[in-house]
Amino acid sequence: MTLRLDYSNMMISPGGIDQKTWTNAGKQFGDAKRGFDQLRAGGTVGFVELGGDRGLLNQVESFAANARGKFDDVVILGIGGSALGPIALRTALRPSGWNMLDEKARGGFPRLHVLDNVDPETIAALLGRLRLDRTLFIVTSKSGGTAETMAQFLIVHDRITSAKLDVSKQMVFVTDPKQGALRPLADRLKVPALDIPPTVGGRFSVLTPVGTLPAALIGIDVKSLLAGAAEMAKRCQSTELASNPAGVYAMLQWIADTQLKKTIAVFMPYSDPLRDFADWFVQLWAESLGKKRSDGTSVGSTPLAALGATDQHAQVQLFMEGPADKTVTFVAVKERSVDVQIPAGFADVKELGYLTGHSLAELIAIEQRATAGALAKRGRPNMTIHLDRVDAVQVGQLMMFLEIATAYTGQLYGIDAFNQPGVELGKQFAYALLGRPGADVAKKEWESLPKSDSRWSV
Ligand code: PA5
Repeated sequence: MTLRLDYSNMMISPGGIDQKTWTNAGKQFGDAKRGFDQLRAGGTVGFVELGGDRGLLNQVESFAANARGKFDDVVILGIGGSALGPIALRTALRPSGWNMLDEKARGGFPRLHVLDNVDPETIAALLGRLRLDRTLFIVTSKSGGTAETMAQFLIVHDRITSAKLDVSKQMVFVTDPKQGALRPLADRLKVPALDIPPTVGGRFSVLTPVGTLPAALIGIDVKSLLAGAAEMAKRCQSTELASNPAGVYAMLQWIADTQLKKTIAVFMPYSDPLRDFADWFVQLWAESLGKKRSDGTSVGSTPLAALGATDQHAQVQLFMEGPADKTVTFVAVKERSVDVQIPAGFADVKELGYLTGHSLAELIAIEQRATAGALAKRGRPNMTIHLDRVDAVQVGQLMMFLEIATAYTGQLYGIDAFNQPGVELGKQFAYALLGRPGADVAKKEWESLPKSDSRWSV
């Protein structure tokens, strides 16, 4: 079976989308779809084609086959879109607690660590416990020049050479085929380099070697992941809104934000394997859609990650009775890789007795349905993405579904979902403070900013 989106609880009255609005949505989607098709024809949305890219798959599979048995640990040096996808894949598609399992339990595949930051506490601790000669470092950067990743690279390069090891055997780069510093460095250091196609941007790159290389190295079925993505890409090309899941999701979120003032989009899987998937989605949605339009107005709903059932005891009170400014997207999973029966016992204790005869898979599924129903009852719109199971095919489907939905939503807002101009000024200021050549204008701008004032500090 394929992923299914149930949006009945978005159409509730009061609080949801009315029939007339939804009837108009078909035409609005038509315009968005045409805009998307133009981008596709112009080669801006290369991520849609990744499911069928045999060339990239071959690069990944042959590198992974060569590396088999040589490494105990794989470490990704990268940040943002170069890091969140691989983390989501590891958590979703490898057994729970992967990095804590012994080699046998890992089937001989290595552990996978993803830095995703430049906090010295984490990096020093990780490098301190690795056997460098048994570690492969994947340096991942689309632009090939991100400050955090370059700093990580310099540190690791220094450690490898100081240990008299061969950099070309302990490192691999994943980067743009032409642009950036990593490509020429690969040639200079004779480090192998795999491609991120020029038409695919950072946060849309999980199905390129950014995600598929580490996935293949730790034994994830990359072929199935891509097959799931390809199938979903096809489904999401329908011009009929009612049969296009990504189109429906985009329209629902866009109408909810712009017409119902639901400015916060909660993403809440009821599945520990999908816990890190929620962070991947948050970046995809936030960095793609939080933009200024050409007329100067700001758009974009704020994504918020939650986990069921855990967050029923943390955030759901806010979703239920706080400001009515949210939609909730649940992800429900039908079959788990394992289930645990709740044993009989203490039948005379009312808080315990009723649980007997149920399993944990049943409990978590029922809690999701109960929370969705309770929200709807209180006029809080929500929808549920149904997966049969968390496997490579369905994770591939889910990733492609959300990527295409994000691109469609960008069209509806009338913005470019594929750039991130808002992070540029902060980067320039950091370059100026670190003394990077060419940052003189930013340095002047920084110096003209109001200084910290002791009256406003406590
Ligand atoms: O989505 C994006 O484009 C960003 O989040 C990037 O992934 C992030 O800034 C890292 O960039 P790069 O892969 O170029 O090092």
